[in-house]
Amino acid sequence: MRHTRIIVTQYGGPDALHVVEEECPEPKAGEVRVRVQAAGVSLPDKMAREGIHPETPRVPFTPGWDLVGVVDRLGDGVSGIESGQIVAAMPIHGAYAEFVCLSQRDLVPVPAGLDAAEAVSLILNYITAYQMLHRSAKVRPGQRVLIHGAAGGVGSALLHLGRLAKLELYGTCSSRGAAAVSDLGGIPIDYNRQDFVEEIHRLTSEGVDVVFDPIGGAHTWHSRKALRPGGKVVAYGNTTSLRGEGLTSDRSGRRNRFHGIPIYALYIAGSWLLPGRRRVIPYSIQTLKRLRPALFRQDLITLLDLLQQEKIKPLIAQRFPITEARQAQELLGNGGVTGKIVLICAADTSGKIT
Ligand SMILES: NC(=O)c1ccc[n+]([C@@H]2O[C@H](COP(=O)([O-])OP(=O)(O)OC[C@H]3O[C@@H](n4cnc5c(N)ncnc54)[C@H](OP(=O)(O)O)[C@@H]3O)[C@@H](O)[C@H]2O)c1
Repeated sequence: MRHTRIIVTQYGGPDALHVVEEECPEPKAGEVRVRVQAAGVSLPDKMAREGIHPETPRVPFTPGWDLVGVVDRLGDGVSGIESGQIVAAMPIHGAYAEFVCLSQRDLVPVPAGLDAAEAVSLILNYITAYQMLHRSAKVRPGQRVLIHGAAGGVGSALLHLGRLAKLELYGTCSSRGAAAVSDLGGIPIDYNRQDFVEEIHRLTSEGVDVVFDPIGGAHTWHSRKALRPGGKVVAYGNTTSLRGEGLTSDRSGRRNRFHGIPIYALYIAGSWLLPGRRRVIPYSIQTLKRLRPALFRQDLITLLDLLQQEKIKPLIAQRFPITEARQAQELLGNGGVTGKIVLICAADTSGKIT
């Protein structure tokens, strides 16, 4: 049986993405073959294509951090899971494919009846948001938080979950995202026109309890000024220091996974050494998953449950067929996207999990 897979052949722009047709992979011992229904398209995928994300594999590779699909074939020694079961996984790369083989221990069961695109949005974006809120910042009802990139994938998840946690929400975004941020219960701050530190102090006087900052570099340091004494910046990206530009630039080049990391570490260390009780704490979903896989599983099950109870409703920006992965990443690169872009495999255009 043949299937379609996307590969990155060299680090660079969207031209580096190619559609290939090849034999379906066979599961090895301990592995399960999954027929992918939905794969998330994220900024880390695009950064891996450019060669600058810390998790960038060597070329050629198949991008795709997260997926939801159907168990299709079991490798030797696999038990306790059946063909037809719906599962979710975060392989970090490899999800842009019709079939993928994964270790059984990486699969989390998904309840029937959910929309595959909504379910896949929970994996990278909502787990990141949930763990930063509840495990890194340990937020309490009534606290004030500032979310940078609030109309984006992780940002909108932080708004949804922040509202459930009864937080007072502020979000930076461009003018294109302001309506979405307001709809999700946040007070929008236009990062192109306003200084967010001045605006936060104007709106709250003493500052916020927590800032969630995916932008990194000097921006993290500026975020620290928006905190009240005792507050925390949760730093979860260093996109600007990696690119020297905005979050959605394009870049061609070599694999350079650790560029920008020393300056990032310096800001974190500096925040602990300087007076003012304003800390910068790093968060990385992949590091926490490697160190504490049970927490990843537990948090994804919690989020799937919230989705099933309709307590959260991920924003889907657009659904593309898997063969249009390049157009999907171009759309992400153009900026102004609200919510999650998802690749849907042809056999499942309805997107419903049955
Ligand atoms: N550490 C972790 O575990 C982890 C996990 C997931 C994601 N991340 C990181 O999180 C970041 C966001 O990922 P995503 O998938 O949510 O991306 P996304 O969906 O593209 O969202 C990014 C958002 O940021 C906005 N933005 C751009 N420049 C900005 C600025 N200077 N100030 C405020 N907002 C700005 C964009 O708005 P416009 O397009 O309207 O300009 C966009 O809405 C990436 O750096 C990614 O690597 C880290």
